[in-house]
Amino acid sequence: MKHIKLGNLDVSRIGLGTMGMNAFYTGHSQDEAESIRTIHRAFDLGVTFIDTAEVYGPFTNEELVGRAVKGRRDEVVVATKFGFLSHSGRAAGSLDSSPASIRTAVEGSLKRLGTDYIDLYYQHRVDPDTPIEDTVGALAELVAEGKIRHIGLSEAGVGTIRRAHAVHPVTALQSEYSLWTRDPEAEVLTVLRELGIGFVPYSPLGHGFLTGQIRSTDDFAEDDWRRTNPRFMGENFQRNLRVADEVKAVADEVGATPAQVALAWLLAQGDDIAPIPGTKRVERVEENTAADSIELSAEQIAKLDDLTPAAGDSHNEAGMRLLER
Ligand SMILES: NC(=O)c1ccc[n+]([C@@H]2O[C@H](COP(=O)([O-])OP(=O)(O)OC[C@H]3O[C@@H](n4cnc5c(N)ncnc54)[C@H](OP(=O)(O)O)[C@@H]3O)[C@@H](O)[C@H]2O)c1
Repeated sequence: MKHIKLGNLDVSRIGLGTMGMNAFYTGHSQDEAESIRTIHRAFDLGVTFIDTAEVYGPFTNEELVGRAVKGRRDEVVVATKFGFLSHSGRAAGSLDSSPASIRTAVEGSLKRLGTDYIDLYYQHRVDPDTPIEDTVGALAELVAEGKIRHIGLSEAGVGTIRRAHAVHPVTALQSEYSLWTRDPEAEVLTVLRELGIGFVPYSPLGHGFLTGQIRSTDDFAEDDWRRTNPRFMGENFQRNLRVADEVKAVADEVGATPAQVALAWLLAQGDDIAPIPGTKRVERVEENTAADSIELSAEQIAKLDDLTPAAGDSHNEAGMRLLER
C-alpha cells in the first residue's frame, strides 16, 4: 500500500471509513464481529488510516473503533470529528464548535477510542454561530496539550479554510468527492494545494451507488439515509443508473471492479489525496484496498472525467445548507 502525506501527516493512500458499521446505512449495527474483522483485515492489508466521528451512532462507532484498534493503536492514524452534537447547552440538532463544547467532546472521544491522543480531529461542519478562529484556537490548545495531533475541517469553503489555517496549520480537509460529486475541483483543491493542506474524499463510492451493486432502493431499510438523498429518489435514481453503467464499462475495460475504478480515479487526482471508502465487510475491504495497484490510462481517466453528470443534489435541502460552497 502506497502512502501519501496530508500536510505533514503520513497515511496509507486508501483509508477505511467506519460510519456504515454503526449508522445511516442498511445493515448497520448488526454484525459487530464482521465489522471488527473488516477493520483488522484493512490493517493487515496496509491501511493505516481509519475514520470515525462522535455523531456516528452516536458514540457507538467510536467505541467500536476503540475496540478494534486496541493493541495496534500506534500503527494507525485515527481520525474522528466533533461538532454535530452540542455539549454547551445548544438546542438538540444544532451544530456546536464552541470551545466549551469541543473541550467536552474531545474527552468523550478519547475515552471511547481508548486512547490518549487523536491523530486527526476534524470539525464536522462549519458552525455559523462560532467564529472559526475561536474553534481553531481551542483546537490549537488541544494540540499543545497533546490530546490531538492534527486539525481538520469538513465541508468548509475556501474562506473558512484560509481563516482557520491562519490560526493554526490545517492538516486535511474532508469533503465529498467522487466521480459523481466533483465540487472540490472548482476552487477548493487549488486553495488546499496553495496552502499545503491534504484532501480526504468521503463517500468516494457515491454511498455505494458507483459500485453498480445498487439497482433499486427496495432493499434499503426504512431508516437508510439514502432514502432521503435526492440522487437515490424517483426519476433521479433511474437516470443515475446510467452513471453506474458508464463506470462499469470502464471497469470492464480495465479488468477491475467499478468500486476499484472509482477509487483509482480519485487516486489519480494527486498525491495529496487519501479517500476513505466505507464498508463493514471483509471481502469488500479487500476489493477496495486493491485499488491501490490499479493504474488508469489517460484515455480511461478522460472517459471517467466525462461521465454523465449525476441527477439531483448530493444531499437533501437541510444537508445542503450545512455545506459551505
Ligand atoms: N465528513 C463527512 O461529513 C462524512 C460524510 C459521509 C461519510 N464520511 C466518511 O466517509 C466514509 C465513506 O463514505 P460512505 O460510507 O458514506 O460512502 P462510500 O464509501 O461511498 O460507500 C459506502 C457504501 O458502499 C458499499 N460498498 C463499499 N465497498 C463496496 C464494494 N466494493 N462493492 C459494493 N458496495 C460497496 C457499502 O456497503 P457495505 O458496508 O455493506 O459493504 C456502503 O453502503 C464513511 O464511512 C465516513 O467515515 C464523512
